[in-house]
Amino acid sequence: MAGSVKVKVCKDAGDVAVQAAQMIAKAIKANPRIVLGLATGSTPEGTYAELAKLNKAKQAPFAGVTTFNLDEYWGLDGDHDQSYRHFMNTRLFDKVDVRPWNTHVLDGTADNPMLECQAFETKILAVGGVDLWLLGIGGNGHVAFNEPGSSVDSRTRLVSLTQETIDANSDGRFFKKASDVPRCALSAGIGTIREARSILLLATGEKKARAVADAVDGPFTPDCPASLLQDHPNCTFIVDKAAASLLGKK
Ligand code: PGA
Repeated sequence: MAGSVKVKVCKDAGDVAVQAAQMIAKAIKANPRIVLGLATGSTPEGTYAELAKLNKAKQAPFAGVTTFNLDEYWGLDGDHDQSYRHFMNTRLFDKVDVRPWNTHVLDGTADNPMLECQAFETKILAVGGVDLWLLGIGGNGHVAFNEPGSSVDSRTRLVSLTQETIDANSDGRFFKKASDVPRCALSAGIGTIREARSILLLATGEKKARAVADAVDGPFTPDCPASLLQDHPNCTFIVDKAAASLLGKK
């Protein structure tokens, strides 16, 4: 099954951001009412900054765009400075002309997590599905908070974070110490993500090289959740040279 993912190798993280933003801007121009799936984390920050510039230059109008985010920490209110709602507002939504009511981020303080997840899936269906889902990848191959072991048909649900993910998110970029990181999150499932009409996964830096190689060249297996995108008909990875360094070397 390996081999159907398209891989575009860029010289560095800045170039990944430019290429990804241009692809998204082109998709918005082709369909101004596009439904975008979005990701958080360090990797897409550059892409969001480029998209904000393109929006200002009227090259990426967000007025008709609807968005859904992959995940949210369980227990964090949208006003918490480490919540993914706050991340999205500050990195993208406040900088473009998206209508706030068209942005959907799971509520980490919902009374009933199962109902919150079902409502999220229902909203995606109600707008006709996601056209393009932007993803990052964890060093352990996770996509969203689908940690190794997540099934190919998993749906939006409450999940536990692995220690590796907790450590990665408390290295000072986001949380200061591991004990501050929530242990659980609401996360779109692999099945949810696979239903998007196109997928754009970004990876930068050598810390992602093993996961990228496993996802592209390795077996189709829940051990590397990103490998479960291999049979998607329209999946592109945009990676920098460092993240591409182990490709083709299995
Ligand atoms: P990062 O996270 O962009 O902060 O490296 C990606 C991920 O864990 O999916």
